[in-house]
Amino acid sequence: MTCHVVSLPSRSPEDTLRIGYVLGSVLEKPPLLISLIGELGVGKTVFVKGFARALGLSMDSITSPTFVIANEYELTTSLRLIHADLYRIESRTELENAGFLDWIGSGAITLVEWGDRVAEALPEDHLKVVFSRGKDENEREIRVSATGCISSLVIEKSRSELTIQV
Ligand SMILES: Nc1ncnc2c1ncn2[C@@H]1O[C@H](COP(=O)(O)OP(=O)(O)OP(=O)(O)O)[C@@H](O)[C@H]1O
Ligand SMILES: [Mg+2]
Repeated sequence: MTCHVVSLPSRSPEDTLRIGYVLGSVLEKPPLLISLIGELGVGKTVFVKGFARALGLSMDSITSPTFVIANEYELTTSLRLIHADLYRIESRTELENAGFLDWIGSGAITLVEWGDRVAEALPEDHLKVVFSRGKDENEREIRVSATGCISSLVIEKSRSELTIQV
């Protein structure tokens, strides 16, 4: 049986950008929701920059949505990328007011920082990316896991490239 989990070391922001980029590069069949989990400053937004770059956005255009809750980017006329940050969200009502049901129902690619705060509201099939710090200041571990068929496919397609050490 294939195991749909991959654990990746990151030693610099560039490593994290690359991991995001590789995952963004294999995405063929949106919709997909990616839940980004980990403490303040661990690299969730850096990951989104790499991911968005693979979809043709400039990294500079990706700014942290902590205060606006969500930023939307038009990738094509029919496909949006939504980058949300739920750090300040405290209830299901606030989440819905922010447009959450629209994001997940619209066929968009949605990346949600602090997705663990609303775990029960996430679609059953999503990609979970958990960041943790290592001993050194710039060291991180990034654990990517899948919870269903679509998210598993993303891991399968990117596994060989993700695990190449550069
Ligand atoms: N290996 C690494 N991967 C990612 N970022 C790193 C790494 N090492 C150091 N950094 C630094 O850590 C910071 C990560 O910031 P980032 O905004 O991505 O965090 P975040 O998890 O989105 O935080 P928040 O919860 O506040 O939104 C950046 O300043 C980045 O340069
Ligand atoms: Mg962030």
